Amino acid sequence: MFANTKNLLKKAQRGKYAVGHFNINNMEIVQGIVQAAQNFKSPVILATSEGAIKYAGMNFLYEIANTAASLSKVPVALHLDHGRDMKVIKQAIKIGYSSVMFDGSNLPFEKNVRMTKKVVRMAHKKGISVEAELGTIGGVEDTVISRNIVYTDPIKAQEFVERTGCDFLAVAIGTSHGAYKFKGNATLDITLLKEIVKNVTVPLVLHGASEVPHDIVKMAEKYGAQLKGVKGVPDSEVRKAVRNGICKINTDTDLRIAFDAAVRQFLKKKPKDFDPRHILSPARDLITKVVEDRMKVFGSKKRG
Ligand code: G3H
Ligand code: 13P
Ligand code: ZN
Repeated sequence: MFANTKNLLKKAQRGKYAVGHFNINNMEIVQGIVQAAQNFKSPVILATSEGAIKYAGMNFLYEIANTAASLSKVPVALHLDHGRDMKVIKQAIKIGYSSVMFDGSNLPFEKNVRMTKKVVRMAHKKGISVEAELGTIGGVEDTVISRNIVYTDPIKAQEFVERTGCDFLAVAIGTSHGAYKFKGNATLDITLLKEIVKNVTVPLVLHGASEVPHDIVKMAEKYGAQLKGVKGVPDSEVRKAVRNGICKINTDTDLRIAFDAAVRQFLKKKPKDFDPRHILSPARDLITKVVEDRMKVFGSKKRG
């Protein structure tokens, strides 16, 4: 049984912490994340992108996540990340996700309003909550290769939430997807975030928030990864964002780098071992560690 995402985020908003959203693609990633949530008694949101669904199939990911949720003592929600394809959104609503995101950030304002409203109507009928996005988060995603960051306009955000009835809103305050987030100073526009919070009452979401941890990048590089120029969001900036009203924080890149580093290290150290269970166990364990580190920063420990 999945937790209700809206309830998790409303509680986080009251408690001034953020719930971690972590992207999943396979069983080991799910187990690694949920282990961390259990260890820290923290709520957690598992999220599938359209790319993940294309890779593994929605039914597989749903069932893996559902099994993890049933076995767990902490609240586990399942969320559709960056939904753009109406067919996928409808399927997620039908199968019983806790929440779906409609990402109309690449659309003109009026079309984003219209489409988001449509998804809200469909989802709310089934008690499923909806995340929407206004402004654009830069970087690389599966379906959109690269975009410039267009910061969220606080006045437009208020109008957008009122007209669409969305349950939480992803805002653009300087983050971007992927491992190459900043060329210069790694800072977020906290002044803008404060303005948005004054205008919008629904919980706010921060995408593209991976830290790109230095020690894990070094580990991956030691065993052959080429990651020159990677730069994530410093923990201090994320903490500021949480203090100023961010209630849901998305992380995918950190998990990918951890998975990659652990697999590379194992294969290099044990070239004669070809058992997939041995190869993937260290990746699962390192994901647990990375998720625990994120949860410390988000303040969600003991909130489950
Ligand atoms: O926000 C994007 C996530 O990192 C998902 O990436 O579409 O390649 O699965 P993906
Ligand atoms: P990162 O690429 O910073 O991990 O962001 C992930 C994300 O926003 C998923 O929606
Ligand atoms: Zn995102």
